[in-house]
This record gives sequence, structure tokens and C-alpha cells, in this order.
Amino acid sequence: MPDYEYILVERDGPVGVVTLNRPQALNALFTPLVREMVEALESFDADPEIRALVLTGGLRVFAAGADLKEMSSQSAVDALLNNRIAYWDRVRNIAKPIIAAVSGYALGGGCELAMLCDIIVASETARFGQPEINVGLIPGAGGTQRLTRTAGKYKAMEMILTGAQIDAFEAERRGLANRVVPPELLLEEAKRLGFELAEKPPISVRLAKRAVTKAFESTIEAGIELERLSFYFLFASEDSHEGIQAFIDKRKPEYGGR
Ligand code: CAA
Repeated sequence: MPDYEYILVERDGPVGVVTLNRPQALNALFTPLVREMVEALESFDADPEIRALVLTGGLRVFAAGADLKEMSSQSAVDALLNNRIAYWDRVRNIAKPIIAAVSGYALGGGCELAMLCDIIVASETARFGQPEINVGLIPGAGGTQRLTRTAGKYKAMEMILTGAQIDAFEAERRGLANRVVPPELLLEEAKRLGFELAEKPPISVRLAKRAVTKAFESTIEAGIELERLSFYFLFASEDSHEGIQAFIDKRKPEYGGR
């Protein structure tokens, strides 16, 4: 593993854990941190031993958003040319499932980062919000689209227009968190889910993630088409034959990831 300055990286068997680690700035997502985070996620994605990823900011804060200090002197043309949000596309393109373990603030780009993940486990202290309106901006890393599709037009509109935050329990009710756990159990629960996903046939996991993401991001016709092709494609995988045969033989399947 390369030496990282703003993140911590850990392997726990088949689960790769990336922890944002810039506590003095509440994990504000400045470019060096985002670059390291994306590189670590991509490196786990390419590692055949790793089957699921956990992304967290630790117990105090997930991330307080894009770095307002870094952006303070940026012109519109700088923003266009730097195109920093393109890093977010690389997170979106990670093929393995990413479980966000969110504790404390997930604001602005932090909330958008959590929503780019595939499963969100929240600690009781988690707070989600899109406060960009308060600094004369709007969400720029997918928040207007993903929050609206997740929480519905009216809640998303209220959160994005007022900047109001919601707590972990409301996030769970609104579909923005899969479950809420006490802070001390957050990482354990996220890893437990990761271990569970690691037991599943990896090609199916990869194609299922892509198909569900498609449902979230496009029309039902395009999603159904991708789902059907993925489903047919899986009959070319050794794991689907193993899985079906194991069911018929009444034994536990052994998946080789092929
Ligand atoms: N960017 C840069 N620095 C940040 C930051 C951010 N988004 N959020 C917090 N910090 C820094 C603070 O400046 C402070 O640094 P100093 O000690 O050097 O002054 C340190 O982190 C601690 O922050 P606070 O003293 O403010 O801590 P608090 O507990 O009083 O408040 C908070 C916490 C409510 C999260 C508050 O820090 C805050 O409102 N942060 C900004 C949140 C925000 O507006 N996020 C959206 C950013 S824009 C965006 O994300 C665009 C996009 O869609 C991509």
C-alpha cells in the first residue's frame, strides 16, 4: 500500500476499509484527500482478494463537504478547467460494493459521497445535509439528483433550499440510511455487511450493483435492458452453474469468482 497522508487504509480479510483522516478540517474534501481516497478505492477494486469496500470518516465526522477554503478563490473558469468533481465519477465507477459507515456530519459533498456508496450504515450521531445554499452555491456532486431520488422531491427540496440537516433516524426513515447503530458498533456492522457480501458470487455482485445503480440513474427501459443482459450473461459464469448445482445437491456452494 502506498503511504497516504489524508486517509487510513486497512484490510480485514476480503473487506478493504478506507477512512478519511483529516480531522482538523472535519474531513473537508480537498483535492489531495479526494485523490488519495479515489486511488485507495480503485486499488481495492482491482485487488482480487478484496470483495467489498467500507468507506468511513471515523466516529467524529464523515465529511463536512467540499473544502470551502480551497474553493474560496476559484473562478468559474477554474472550476470548469479543474473539473474536480470528475473524481466523484471515479467513485461511481467502482465495481465492487461500497458500504458507507457514516458517523457525525455528512454535509454537502460528504452527503453526496455517502450517496455514491451502495449501502449506508449510520451511527446514531450521523447528520445528513446539503448546506451549500448557505454559502451561495448548490450541491455539485450529484446531490440535487440523488437526494431527490432517495428522499423524494419535497424533502430533498426542503433540505437543499434551506440547508436543514436530518438526523440518522430520519435518514433511515427517508431511505437515506439502511440502518442506524450505536457509534461503537458502526465499523463492526459495516464490516459485517462487507463479509456477508464477500461470501456471494463476485460476478453476480458486480452485475447486480451495476443494474441497481442503473435503476437509480436512468429510465426503467434502460435498466430492464441492462438487467436482462446481465442475467443472461451470468449463465456464462462458472459460479452460476456452481450455485445452481449446489442448490440441487443440497450443499454449500464454493464460488471461485469466475
Ligand atoms: N471546508 C473547509 N474547512 C472546513 C469545512 C469545509 N467544508 N468544514 C469545516 N471546516 C473546518 C473549519 O474551518 C474549522 O477549521 P479552523 O479550526 O481552522 O477554523 C474546522 O474545520 C472545524 O470546524 P468548525 O469550527 O466550524 O466546527 P463546528 O463543530 O463549529 O461546526 C460544521 C461544524 C457545522 C460542519 C461547520 O464546520 C460547517 O458548517 N462547515 C461547512 C459545511 C458546508 O457548508 N459544507 C458544504 C461545502 S460546499 C460543497 O460540499 C459543494 C459540493 O456539493 C461538492
